[in-house]
Amino acid sequence: MSHETVHVDLPGRAYDILIGAGLLQEAGQHIVPFLRRKRVAIITDETVAGLHLATLQASLDAAGIAHSALALPPGEATKGWEQFSRAVEWILTEKIERSDLVIALGGGVIGDLVGFAAAVVRRGVRFVQIPTSLLAQVDSSVGGKTGINTGQGKNLVGAFHQPTLVLADTSLLATLPPRDFLAGYGEVVKYGLLGDAAFFEWLEANGPAMAAGDIDKRNYAVCRSCEMKAEIVMRDETEQGDRALLNLGHTFCHALEAATGYSSRLLHGEGVAIGCALAFETSARLGLCSQEEPSRVRAHLAAMGMKVDLKDIPGDLPDAEALLALMAQDKKVLDGKLRFIMARGIGAAFVTSDVPADVVRGLLAEELARR
Ligand code: GLY
Repeated sequence: MSHETVHVDLPGRAYDILIGAGLLQEAGQHIVPFLRRKRVAIITDETVAGLHLATLQASLDAAGIAHSALALPPGEATKGWEQFSRAVEWILTEKIERSDLVIALGGGVIGDLVGFAAAVVRRGVRFVQIPTSLLAQVDSSVGGKTGINTGQGKNLVGAFHQPTLVLADTSLLATLPPRDFLAGYGEVVKYGLLGDAAFFEWLEANGPAMAAGDIDKRNYAVCRSCEMKAEIVMRDETEQGDRALLNLGHTFCHALEAATGYSSRLLHGEGVAIGCALAFETSARLGLCSQEEPSRVRAHLAAMGMKVDLKDIPGDLPDAEALLALMAQDKKVLDGKLRFIMARGIGAAFVTSDVPADVVRGLLAEELARR
């Protein structure tokens, strides 16, 4: 089967992201060149195991690769110390050595947790990401950020550990509930908004067909997103500068996720989409871009049937001051100013510490009043 390849050219840690429909069935043949002995350990979650583990196992069998598997409970709660130590102990029990491979088969939770386990077992074993959600295919499986949540917050413990290979099988997206697909789409839109106006325009024209299942459009959107992420990660692997652009919409998102208790009231990708709309609205209020730009962002999200504004989040939200306090926890406040990703237009985001807290407070208060 044909696939696209995006190369992440990091010195000493270069790897390919293969993107296409049917890659899971071919996983064994893509993985075998990386093995010194034909043996791997797979970690997945129970939901993904039910849908896709047998296909992966059959393809490993066909390539003569021995394998064992651990299925963790599905959901964000898995991404903590308890399941992390379970995964680490299991990898050790399976006698995985430094030159062996661990496979992360699942969405963002599995990718982040297994990547972190691989980073610390024997001071680093190699791992392959097989992302099964749109969010994982376009964001979390690429770029080497791994980690878990703690009682203090999300992703607070982790490591940069680049995978050896990423296999993004776009046909797996057909098994996603529509809400999860659209949440992942929030991260896809983010790429257009932060750095590629032509891609955003393509999404405006093709997003609905892509959501409806068009596989060529899904392949293109995942590929373009991965190219953009790879390009930014190659410039700034450990987020000293430009990688922060990938956090467009995320300061608003993290505050809204905290305010909704990281519950199903708001999925991460939904928060990213709302956060991007708010970031563009703030940019317009600061005179950085015209008012048409946030209107266009909101129009596209609405056309996709996505959450657009604070009024689309069910249940109570705290007041503007409390939301601002949650944002300040996420990003440092300097002399009453927040560090943000703002935009001079669609496809032209930049990092700035020059956002007055008053402007953000005013916008949030107006948005809350419209609920
Ligand atoms: N998800 C943001 C990053 O990988 O930097």
